Amino acid sequence: MTPEATQFQETRKSLLAAPRKWLVTGVAGFIGSHLLQELLGLDQTVTGMDNLATGHRSNLDAVRDAVTPEQWGRFALLEGDIRDRSVCEAGCQGVSIVLHQAALGSVPRSLSDPLASHDSNVTGFINMLVAARKCGVRRFVYASSSSVYGDEPTLPKTESRVGNCLSPYAATKAANELYAGVFSRAYGLRSIGLRYFNVFGPRQDPEGPYAAVIPKWITALVAGQTVFINGDGETSRDFCYVANAVQANLLAATTEAPAALDQVYNVAVHERTSLNDLFAALKARLVKKHPRVGDAAPVYRDFRSGDVRHSLADISKASRLLGYVPSHRLSDGLDAFLSDGS
Ligand SMILES: NC(=O)c1ccc[n+]([C@@H]2O[C@H](COP(=O)([O-])OP(=O)(O)OC[C@H]3O[C@@H](n4cnc5c(N)ncnc54)[C@H](O)[C@@H]3O)[C@@H](O)[C@H]2O)c1
Repeated sequence: MTPEATQFQETRKSLLAAPRKWLVTGVAGFIGSHLLQELLGLDQTVTGMDNLATGHRSNLDAVRDAVTPEQWGRFALLEGDIRDRSVCEAGCQGVSIVLHQAALGSVPRSLSDPLASHDSNVTGFINMLVAARKCGVRRFVYASSSSVYGDEPTLPKTESRVGNCLSPYAATKAANELYAGVFSRAYGLRSIGLRYFNVFGPRQDPEGPYAAVIPKWITALVAGQTVFINGDGETSRDFCYVANAVQANLLAATTEAPAALDQVYNVAVHERTSLNDLFAALKARLVKKHPRVGDAAPVYRDFRSGDVRHSLADISKASRLLGYVPSHRLSDGLDAFLSDGS
């Protein structure tokens, strides 16, 4: 094992030895519920906040079933909305680390309702920063997005070169980074932004018009429904299994290296996969359990507006400054995901 790969193990050990009090916003969502599971598994005390706009109680039930009753007893849910400042303040009381995941995801959702995305993702975000500062939170880790690279064509994407945002969603995440920087410089609130690249895994919502591609395609293939590919299928992404995102959050939450703070980091694998290759990888795995998937063929339709054509992350900054070493490449992640139920 490389020295860097041990950084996450060291982090987990030190948290077990000296548990902290955390706030996870968006805790009933996909990534938030995985953060909760990891933290409770490490005997941490966690407040979770969610308005259940896109999250589900069933995600919390799954976490409850995965941890011990004693660990579950260290979790308190605050059902509320980050657009409400008093809720943000209540959530931050007595907390040393915030993992801020609550937001309305999806580029197309933001194109059809930019105000809703702005309210939760920008107003809600600054509400959280204000509350964290007021309550003396020591570290504010937040979910940014690869969408901030917009029309910047250079591959791989490096943190210092962003282009013009192509959607209101991307603009909200760029605004998060601006505000986090200002709160650091003006008020000394230490933050780290994580630019997630297409995170996937168990508990990611496969339903609805704004579902992410991997859970949506798995559900469609298993049900014998048509899989649509937007564009020619050569659009590419750096798909990141959720365990990698959890690792990045814990490293960002605990690093004390001054150079690592008040930064943004790509969180991905540095592996480029086209939608056509993704379709083939899913089909090859699912056909073993669902033979009729062998006959499935995608139907191609128009490119989707606001989508970036290619996405591939340079993850060297996170490796160098945080000790981030992704534990799962796409194939490992798909295997882990599909052994989890589908
Ligand atoms: N999944 C990805 O590939 C990906 C990629 C880039 C960035 N992100 C970001 O990561 C974060 C988590 O995403 P996810 O995939 O887990 O999505 P998700 O929709 O499963 O989780 C988001 C959670 O936030 C909650 N929420 C939304 N608005 C809220 C509000 N106003 N007040 C309180 N709670 C609210 C939702 O109910 C949900 O439980 C989001 O900030 C998202 O923008 C995700």
